[in-house]
Amino acid sequence: MADKTLNEIRNTFLKYFEKNDHQIVESSNLVPNNDPTLMFANSGMVQFKNVFTGLEKRDYVRATTSQKCVRAGGKHNDLENVGYTPRHHTFFEMLGNFSFGDYFKEQAIDYAWNLITKDFGIDKNRLYVTVFHEDDEAFNFWKKIAGFSDDRIIRIATSDNFWSMGETGPCGPCSEIFFDHGDHLHGGLPGTKDEDGDRFIEIWNLVFMQFEQVTKDKRINLPKPSVDTGMGLERIAALLQGTHDNYETDHFKKIINSASDIIKIKSDKSNLSSFRVIADHLRASSFLIAEGVLPSNEGRGYVLRRIMRRGMRHSHLLGAKDPVFSKLFDTLLNEMSGNYPELKRAESLIKETLKMEEEKFLVLLDRGIKILNDEISKIDKVLPGDIAFKLYETYGFPIDLTEDILKSKSLEFDKERFGELMRESIELARKNWKGSGDSAVEQVWYGVKEKYGATEFLGYENDQAQGVIKSLLKNHKEVDTLNEGDEGIIVVNQTPFYAESGGQVGDTGLISKDEFEFEVTDVQKKLVDLFVHYGKVKKGSIKLEQDVEMKINIEKRNDTRAYHSATHLLHESLRRVLGPHVTQKGSLVEPERLRFDFSHMKPISDDEMVKIESHVNDMISKQSDVTTRIMTPKEAVDNGALALFGEKYGDEVRVLSMGDEGEKYFSTELCGGTHVKNTGDIGKFKIISQSSIAAGVRRVEALRDKQLDDYLKNKEKMLNLSSEKDDEQINELSKQISDLGGKPNLDETDKKVLIKNLNKQLETLSVNSILQDQSKNKVNDLEVNGVKVRFQNVEDLPPKELRKLVDKGKKELGEGIVIVFASKDDKVGIAVGVTEKLTEKFDAVQFVKTGSEVIGGKGGGGRKDFAQAGGQDQSKINDAFEKIKSLI
Ligand code: ALA
Repeated sequence: MADKTLNEIRNTFLKYFEKNDHQIVESSNLVPNNDPTLMFANSGMVQFKNVFTGLEKRDYVRATTSQKCVRAGGKHNDLENVGYTPRHHTFFEMLGNFSFGDYFKEQAIDYAWNLITKDFGIDKNRLYVTVFHEDDEAFNFWKKIAGFSDDRIIRIATSDNFWSMGETGPCGPCSEIFFDHGDHLHGGLPGTKDEDGDRFIEIWNLVFMQFEQVTKDKRINLPKPSVDTGMGLERIAALLQGTHDNYETDHFKKIINSASDIIKIKSDKSNLSSFRVIADHLRASSFLIAEGVLPSNEGRGYVLRRIMRRGMRHSHLLGAKDPVFSKLFDTLLNEMSGNYPELKRAESLIKETLKMEEEKFLVLLDRGIKILNDEISKIDKVLPGDIAFKLYETYGFPIDLTEDILKSKSLEFDKERFGELMRESIELARKNWKGSGDSAVEQVWYGVKEKYGATEFLGYENDQAQGVIKSLLKNHKEVDTLNEGDEGIIVVNQTPFYAESGGQVGDTGLISKDEFEFEVTDVQKKLVDLFVHYGKVKKGSIKLEQDVEMKINIEKRNDTRAYHSATHLLHESLRRVLGPHVTQKGSLVEPERLRFDFSHMKPISDDEMVKIESHVNDMISKQSDVTTRIMTPKEAVDNGALALFGEKYGDEVRVLSMGDEGEKYFSTELCGGTHVKNTGDIGKFKIISQSSIAAGVRRVEALRDKQLDDYLKNKEKMLNLSSEKDDEQINELSKQISDLGGKPNLDETDKKVLIKNLNKQLETLSVNSILQDQSKNKVNDLEVNGVKVRFQNVEDLPPKELRKLVDKGKKELGEGIVIVFASKDDKVGIAVGVTEKLTEKFDAVQFVKTGSEVIGGKGGGGRKDFAQAGGQDQSKINDAFEKIKSLI
């Protein structure tokens, strides 16, 4: 196997197990969506956790994977070791084979032995194994299969040979295979005091999964004995390439050489650890960002930030003055995107995030180091907690960095005082918090957030996830349980549920556990980043600290997503057609429709409407990918992103770009909402109404895809129905009228009365059908100087119908002024109604007089609340209306 590349070795492993009837399964995400207790996937078995316990069934019982793992910030945490040993990583790939109740110890040992000694060709004389001290079975299988003498099978009694995923989960005794790199290196066999040296290195761990750790004190048997194995790809690659140092393999050498080119400094013994840190942390950061984890001050984002900053500090130590990581990423992309296409998909997000963090950090570092060095010159051994806190609070200098720098000079800081100041600052923030009105109600969130921290939002990538209940509330008070029938609020440590913001409504869905079901009807954000799930317990009851399954209503979310993306396309289209003065004044994004309010002084004309819709539909039909990037608000705006005036943005913003215009995106906006992956997912789009909601602010409502189809079908049906019905009735009535004329035995007076009645019905029918025809009956509701005004213009309507329309309008407005024009043949009628209260200020007679003069009529009569007049010139109706408007 000598000279095989890392990529080839990965392939050999997977193919070997595929040949032995294992299903090759893709690596799962680093952010586990099936485990609330884990920060990141830390071994190959994580994605199969529920398969081992029998909760989940798959259609295979043997699997093999190369799993992306990050060991930082969780139970298995190697961050601080990276750089200082030849084989520690934060990010690595774990090769594994799995049996779910199929084969067990003997077969697992047999597979492993054959692969490493035959396919990999490793010399068996350099191999040793360990077994859990009580595991005679494994001991004997090794003797039989490998032909090992007793002294090569070492019994270990510690947790080293009992593997568990975390505090809870599947676990079992394990057997590890060690390779002897030779006596030129220092180190002893496992179980000896020198076991941590570089000579005897563990290369493969075979776990005989037998138990499930349910709680700290409770362990039960798995339904069937199973197998989980883990072999670090980087380690086995080193061995097969004839080195004990993972960073000497083909893959790492490429990254390190390229870092050395960028920073323009050769790697040697003195700076090796910095190069290792850079190479490792580049990989971890890039893979995490590719999954949507972004640097922040909470949860996973914080671990990522620590990894990034630790890496960047080392590039700074090597003398780099400019960002390095964003450039170095190209080498990683080249190396790994073949197996991990997510790197290619997220290329721009990764590069920009790395660059932004690095630029920010370089400034911070310079400033912080200056201050710190200054302070260091004044101390003996311990930096006062007040200084460390000031660096952190005022200059944003991360405390672990302060600690790291102090450590390199054998100094420390006063942790106790630092902790005290941290607590005080939180308390102060709480006191200063003004709340949003109902402070007694809102105050409760302060306590909740202080205790449990911000909620981690997983919903950009996941529709479901597990979480641990952190807080339960009933009537805005924290309680220990919620029972069947209770309406309440649930706070979980992480959530796939989107909380209402940026116009997009909160997700709905289900939070459940065994017999318990809580229907989520709304999700809101409190204190910026605490997500609270509102709803009702449908079944069972729930307690604090229980873990739960959370599933959003996917169909609704998908529709909402599509409406949100449609809103962005609409916004840009409005600006292009109506002008750059168009700015967003409000927005509502629901699963069933969108509503968008924007600044614009006059109604959108039919022509403009067609253009706006075709811009949007054009971008939809181009079916281009939607991209998300992270930038500072300033960078985003420099990049042409539309920022919403009056919105508060943090240090970093998500920037959504969509719509294919060759070199450019059609729309770029700052947005924290959820969006489609491709504009084609939006489906056909149409604006179905426009109105004015305040002076200079217009509102449009739009539908897409299936809701639009339904709407159009219904509308057509209604029109057809009414006209069919009307036609039928009109025919029927006309027939009756002519029939009556031919009835000689009827009294003439009776005949007249009957015909008159029928004619009346006929007229009502035709008026109704005109009023239902939107091309003949145009209604526009607007606000003029704070007064609601209806302007209605109906063609083909006899003027005597005006009064009814005015009355109807008054009722619908509640309070306001209704101005209706009706025209038929060469006549135009105008009628104005003023609701009672407003007659103190406005006079319908005056309005009608002004209006009728414009349309070539005269005078007119009526009262303050209703007046009517006539005229001839239909083409002047709009002018007449504008003239009346100017009086309001
Ligand atoms: N899950 C086992 C490990 O990570 C194989 O070592």
